[in-house]
Amino acid sequence: MNPTLSEAGLDALALVRDELGQVEAALRDGANAGSAAVDAIGRHLQQSGGKRIRAALVLLTGRLTACPPPTRIRLAAIVEMIHAATLIHDDVIDEAPTRRGRPSANATWGNPRSVLAGDWLYMQAFRLALAERHFGVLDALISLTQAMVEGELLQLDMQGRLVTPAEHLDLIERKTARLFAVGAELAALAAGRPAAELDRLERFGRHLGLAFQMVDDLLDFTATETALGKPVGGDLREGKMTLPAIYAYESAPPAARERFTRVLDERAYASVPWRDVQSLVESTGALERARRESREQAALALEAILEFPPSPWRDALARLPELVISRSH
Ligand code: IPE
Ligand code: IPE
Ligand code: MG
Ligand code: MG
Repeated sequence: MNPTLSEAGLDALALVRDELGQVEAALRDGANAGSAAVDAIGRHLQQSGGKRIRAALVLLTGRLTACPPPTRIRLAAIVEMIHAATLIHDDVIDEAPTRRGRPSANATWGNPRSVLAGDWLYMQAFRLALAERHFGVLDALISLTQAMVEGELLQLDMQGRLVTPAEHLDLIERKTARLFAVGAELAALAAGRPAAELDRLERFGRHLGLAFQMVDDLLDFTATETALGKPVGGDLREGKMTLPAIYAYESAPPAARERFTRVLDERAYASVPWRDVQSLVESTGALERARRESREQAALALEAILEFPPSPWRDALARLPELVISRSH
């Protein structure tokens, strides 16, 4: 009998559970700036958890490509640290009140300290990376960080207006998928694997990351704040058109379309209640269409990873697309 999806997911992560513990220790040691605010913000984020899916991705691809343990553990910590820094900055930009089920750093320490703590964490990640003495790794991390910043800037340009599916895809490729793509190839790069293998891993990570963000955007319409640990309905309220809203707008009758632009203009569910928006994305089939697209990305990720010969590591990585698609938070 097939394991349930969550069992399959746990299974996939069980292979790297010990090493995930070592990544946790590296993150704890890493958040030690000697400045009270930076230390507190770093600790706050580290202790509130997070799914650590990017760390697992680095560790599993590291096993797959025979990247030695100290390197793969360090690379996993670097990727989670860059992720944490972008979350701190993202919550400042989005004025988000909660993250990982707790008040966000900006809500607790304010914007100025949060921006500086994010900067410090980025630099800490690069300091760790320097220890690898590998220009290729540094190059990949620098391009990645710049792409993510470009993604956030692009998002600001798109805020409050209608966007096309192609514009949206470009945005999520930069702001989310690039980190998964680099996370998937980083250990192989450090281990000196051939270019064809790096390409395959990059492709796996990119499609996995696209699926991940598409599901994140779906959950913003379908989940509860308790399950997510961050507000729901936030995207449209923040002026962001994601796939469910883009598709619902495309297929809704003119009178209903106007509800989306009204929320974008008002930056609140004021004259249009959240429930109306939820039922529109449902009744127009937009949710289902967006769900289908996330499944297509997951299938492309699976296809890429199955190009590797069978091994426990490959098989664990091959479960990640399904895990991403079926996640509830
Ligand atoms: C949140 O990422 C940011 C997105 C790319 C949607 P995660 O959902 O992986 O956040 P944590 O690390 O588990 O909190
Ligand atoms: C996440 O964007 C991408 C990042 C680079 C942080 P979102 O704004 O959709 O992420 P959440 O919903 O705040 O986690
Ligand atoms: Mg955000
Ligand atoms: Mg989101």
